[in-house]
Formats: sequence, structure tokens, C-alpha cells
Amino acid sequence: MAIIYDREQGLLTLHTLHSTYQMGISSYGHLLHLYYGRRAEGSFLPLLSLRDRGFSGNPYDAGNDRSYSADTLPQELSAFGNGDYRHSGFRLRTADGACGSDLRFEEARRYPGKYRLPGGLPAADAFRTEGEESGAESLELRLRDSRSGTLVRLLYAVYEEEDILTRAVIVENAGAEPVWIEQADSAALDFPRGHFDLVHFSGSYGNERLYHRERLSAGEKSIGSSRGASSHQHNPFVMLCTADSTEDSGEVYGLALVYSGNFRISAEVDQLGQTRLSAGMMDTHFSWRLGSGEQFCCPEAVLGFGEGFAVLSQRFHRFTSRHILHGTFMKARRPVLLNSWEGCYFDFDGTRILRLAEEAKELGIELLVMDDGWFGKRDNDLSGLGDWQCNTKKLGMPLGVLAEGIRERGLRFGIWIEPEMVSEDSALFREHPDYAFRIPGKEPIRSRMQLVLDFSRQEVVDRIFRDLSETLREAKPDYIKMDMNRSIMEAYTHAQPAAGESCADGTMQNRGALLHRYMLGVYDFLRRMQAAFPETLIEGCCGGGGRFDLGMLYFTPQIWLSDNTDAIERLSLQYGASFGYPISAVGAHVSAVPNHQTGRSTPLATRAVAALSGSFGYELDPAALSPGERAEIRQQIEIYKRYYVLLHEGDYYRLSGAAMGCAAAGFGADGNMGSDSFSAWLTVSSDQTEALLSVVTRTQHCNTPAEYIRLRGLRRGREYRIAPVMQSAEWYLPKEKEALLFHRFTGDVLMERGIPLPLLPGEYQSLLLHLREV
Ligand code: DGJ
Repeated sequence: MAIIYDREQGLLTLHTLHSTYQMGISSYGHLLHLYYGRRAEGSFLPLLSLRDRGFSGNPYDAGNDRSYSADTLPQELSAFGNGDYRHSGFRLRTADGACGSDLRFEEARRYPGKYRLPGGLPAADAFRTEGEESGAESLELRLRDSRSGTLVRLLYAVYEEEDILTRAVIVENAGAEPVWIEQADSAALDFPRGHFDLVHFSGSYGNERLYHRERLSAGEKSIGSSRGASSHQHNPFVMLCTADSTEDSGEVYGLALVYSGNFRISAEVDQLGQTRLSAGMMDTHFSWRLGSGEQFCCPEAVLGFGEGFAVLSQRFHRFTSRHILHGTFMKARRPVLLNSWEGCYFDFDGTRILRLAEEAKELGIELLVMDDGWFGKRDNDLSGLGDWQCNTKKLGMPLGVLAEGIRERGLRFGIWIEPEMVSEDSALFREHPDYAFRIPGKEPIRSRMQLVLDFSRQEVVDRIFRDLSETLREAKPDYIKMDMNRSIMEAYTHAQPAAGESCADGTMQNRGALLHRYMLGVYDFLRRMQAAFPETLIEGCCGGGGRFDLGMLYFTPQIWLSDNTDAIERLSLQYGASFGYPISAVGAHVSAVPNHQTGRSTPLATRAVAALSGSFGYELDPAALSPGERAEIRQQIEIYKRYYVLLHEGDYYRLSGAAMGCAAAGFGADGNMGSDSFSAWLTVSSDQTEALLSVVTRTQHCNTPAEYIRLRGLRRGREYRIAPVMQSAEWYLPKEKEALLFHRFTGDVLMERGIPLPLLPGEYQSLLLHLREV
């Protein structure tokens, strides 16, 4: 049994195979967090530190007992106003303006299967694959604030085999008066100690999710987004780890939100050196009116614990692949695609697209994606968004004919959309200026010359879905790339106030609430798209990876990692993404050189080695390729198909990068510390009989000391043979090559010493090696 409720002791214990999570009900009825970490039997309750701490208040019913304070005890969900001066995950305002709730335990209920979330939010599945139960068990804890009557339901699901827990919070107004939720976190973890590092993934457009690690000290460190999307700048996946943590050791906690909108994750070290990790929707500007009888659901949080970064990442990868991804492409091999963007930008017509398809087919590519520019008046990014009718004049043919033409050439057809946006120069905007978020009397902030449609309004979602689905039905796309190319500034709705709402009291226009409704509108749109096009692979995109999170992955099983397609830069971006997300989630393309973003030239094989650890494709004009390059691409595609299962289902190990060591802070922008000479990673099949090693050299120096790439995850005592799969250049020293390829090596040798970093001439060279047990 994964969940144990010891009524007598007031103890609630959640076990996965390798971890334990424990809560206890205090003598005053508060729900305390007792433990999360390595699997442990027994009660942590008697070990609570109960001491009189000056200036830390006590609950009224504690009378003269000054040793019990919410300010110092570990809370499961800290309620604002209850004596805890740290970040509170729950803040409720009542109609009289008071903010002070006191959540007391009422009851606990365990049940098999996964709890369900109301209200349209994505959440981890109850199933492993279609129809097969996951084996998850759920726990619901009910807490009540007696003053307002508000009920807070804490939901937990235990995925025992995956070593993952999920959490969610539902707030119900069981009182007669409305209440306002001003903070509703999804999860918090309290630790009775400090000395943690926070690892987060921050960056900017083109530099998404770079690894950052910093030592926590007194005070609060928070990351988040108020841009309306989870953002390029920060990501709703973080890790908290002991200061000694490396890929293989240390206590590492992972937390991810299944949410794509504004969020806030903070780590706080309090007056006693205790640490609180909190995560939920962004609190700044958030206020949600909850009428009598209504309920509000917070986004789900996913929690994992592992010893070392590698095992934690693998747990998140497995869990996401099994329980977050959905539909046909959860398991099915992702097609190799050619995307028209960097090859053509806006400069194409139907004939050019058909020619691209012919050339792509000749290379072995399976799907052709017509990117931005096929609809409305759209020859650049200044106009046309919102007009989802095909521009047959530009294409020279109807969309259905073009799609058929692509299929006749033996490829599947993919298309780009950006449903949440509108250009001022569009028929939709002229017809419905009120559909865009705009503050009356203020000129809007423009970004890429576009405005954001108010997806908090059902009629706006209906209209866009109607127009797009009508147009797309004609083409029956096998793939849709759903983009979103700006952050949201003016969240102001022009919807009619509903009963009980008015612009004047600030409820209706509350930015946080509106942007949450917007997100629910986006999810509703995606749900409808999935229902209308069930066999279609939808790839998420947000100017690259500006909305790369578990919420989007629920609907779009792969997401374009970044608009930065430079292979060397991508090593750092993929490195960052690999901590929380499986490689199947990462849209990765080989593009032309010199690279359009950096001007750097890298060998074609190196670009492929980088992109092969993702959902693979190309983004270039095949007409510009030499016959040699064409042959190489055909080979690369064969390799992708041959090793797909190993790459996508194997266990992923990072063999280079900052997380190998344990120092905090001070990394380069690429997340590398120490040796900057190579990037390497490995995928090992679950039975450990084969593995694929990818190596890319970054720099080259004269007379360097021998460097070894230590492998991981192999079986000790077994022998492996190494075979080259792809390489960008010949070994400089043939003897080194011979030594490696003509011997057998035990897993022990490969893991204890590793393989010597091969000397390949020049920089940015690469090597893909296959290991097979003999
Ligand atoms: C941003 C995307 O990330 C690009 O790949 C491309 O689709 C453009 N938008 C098109 O406008």
C-alpha cells in the first residue's frame, strides 16, 4: 500500500519505491509537513522542534504553551494569518477585507487511482497507456477555515513505481458570502534545515532554460513569470539539492508545475535556517472571487526525490512520457520533418512548398511543415494574424490542393498557426477590436507588431477555433505547430460583466485572475483541437521555447526548444532542458550554416548529433545542399529511425556540464564548468545491453592532458563493443581509434575510467558511438 493513514497517531505516510513523504496532524489540528526524502519507515512526528521562540506567535487555543508556533513549525500548506510570517501558500480575503484564515484538519480519504481535477486544467493521467491503470493511489485531505467556512482540499497521488508524487489544491467556498483567493499555491515543501542549492533554468529569447545553481542563504529567492506564459526567462521546473549534490550523489528534490501561465516558485531560508520551497500561480496582481458554492482549482505540481541529478531526471522523464503526454504521439515515433521557416521565411508560394516536398522526400524526410505566411495578408510579421483563411492568391492554389500535392509526393503535411494573436492590420481586428486585450484610453504595448486575443472569453476562443478548424479541415494536417509570439502586458477584458461582477470593484479586470482565465481558454482551445484532429501531432512553440512546461506537454507532446538553431548553443539549451524534460519533448532541427542566429558554421554531422537527441527534423532549403550533404542527410535519417527507441526510451545520462561537480554559482552562460572542451551525453537501454554515446567538441587546444568521458548506467562485469555510428571528421590519431574500436571493454572500465576524448581535427566536431553488450 503506497498510502498509510495512521488515525491514532495522526500520521499520513506516502511511499514510492525509493522515497517517503510524511505529514502529521498536530494536537491543534494543523497539518504539518514531517518528511520528504529517501524511503523511510516510522514516524517523524516526535522529532518536531517545539521551543518558545520570541516574536513567533502561538495559536489562541494553545493558551500558555509558547512552544507551538506556525512561524517555526513545518507546514503542509501555510495559511496567511495563522502566525506564519514566511511565504504563505494560501491567502484568503473575506468580504469585510480581512485576510486571516486558520486551516484545521477535518478528514482524510484514500482511494485507488488518480484524483480528478475540475475546471479544465491539464493534469497527469490516471493511465499508463490507453486504458491501462497506472497503479496510482490518491489521498484527499480536507482542511477547513471555520471563520469563512472555506474548505481546502489537498490532493495527493502516489506513482509508486515512477517514484513521483503529484499534488493539487482545490478551494471551495462553503460559506454564504463571496471570498477572494489572493494566493493559492500548488505545493510547498518545508525542511528543518538550510544548506540547499536551488537549481533553476533561466534565460531569454534564444537562450532558454540555462542551468543556474545558487546557494540559498537567509531570505527568499524567487523565480517566475508574469508574462502570461511560463516564459523564456524562467521555467516552472526547479530542483532543490544538498550542497554536495552531483549527477550521482546528494539529495535532490524536483518540482514542476503542470501549468503554462504566470507562476512563482520560491525558496526561503527562515530565521532558524529552515527551508521552504513553494510553487504555484503568480501571486502579484492575483485575486480570484469565489462565490458561495464555487470552487477553484490550483495547477497540479509534480514532485520527485532522487539521489543525484541523473536519477531524478530519469524519474521526471519516465513520468512525463507515461503520464503527461497524451494521444497517438505519446508512444508513436515522431516523424522526421522539414520546416519551411529558416529555408523560406515568408517568401514562398504553393509551387515552392511542393518543390520543398519533392526535395524533402528525396532526402528521406517524412513530413513537410509550411510555417508562418500561408493565411490572410501575411508576407511579413506586420499583418494578417487572426485571419485564418488560406491566402490562395499567394499560394496559387487552395490549401486542400497543396496538402494533397504534398501527400501525393509521399510526405505528410504540417502547418503553422498562432491562434492567440491578432494583427491590428487584419479583418478580425477591424471587425472585433474588442477581442484584443487593450486598456481603454491607453495605446497598447506592441510586440512583434501584434496584440493578444482575449482567450479568457469563450466567444473569442469559439471564433478562432471555428475559423481555424474550418480551414484546417480542408487540409487534414498530420502536424500542427502552434506558436505564440509575444508576452502579455495589458490584460483588460472587454467582456460584459457577469452577474456579481463589475469593472469598478477590480474583480473582473484583476490581471492575475484574467490571465489564469486566458490560460484556461488556451487549454480549452487545445482540447478542442485534439478532439477535432485526434491523429494530428501538435507541436508547441512560443517564439521557440517560451512556453516549455508540463501544462503544454499534456497537449503538445513536443515543443520547439528555441529559435536558436546553432548546434553549439543548443548543447547548452538541451543540457538545461534535460534535467526536467524527456528528449521526446524537445523539438530539434538541423539548420543551414552559417547559422542564421549566430553566424557560426559547424559540420553537418555535428548539427545532426545535437538534433538527434530530440524530436528530429530539418529547417533549411534542401536546394542549397551539395550531393555529399544530401547523402549525409539520408544517412542521418536512417540513424534516427534505427536508434529511435534507444534514444527516446532509454535512460538519459549527462556526461559533461556543471552538474558533474558540486560548486554553486560561477558557471559560464553555457552552464559548463571546469573543462569547456566537450559536451557528452549517453542513453542506455533499460536492459543495459546497448547505449548510444554522443560527443561534441567545443574547443581545441595544443598538447592537452588526456581527458576521459566516464560513462554511466552500464552493467558491471559485462563486456561491451564500441562501434562508430556517425562522425564529423576522421580521428586525428588512427591508433586511438583502433584501440577503442577493436577491443571489448567491461562496463566497469567504461564507467571507472571512461573513453578518451578523441582528438578530432578542429572545433565543433562530433562523434556518435554505439555500445553493444557482447
Ligand atoms: C517563431 C517560431 O519559433 C519560429 O520557428 C517561426 O515559426 C516563427 N515564429 C514564425 O513567425
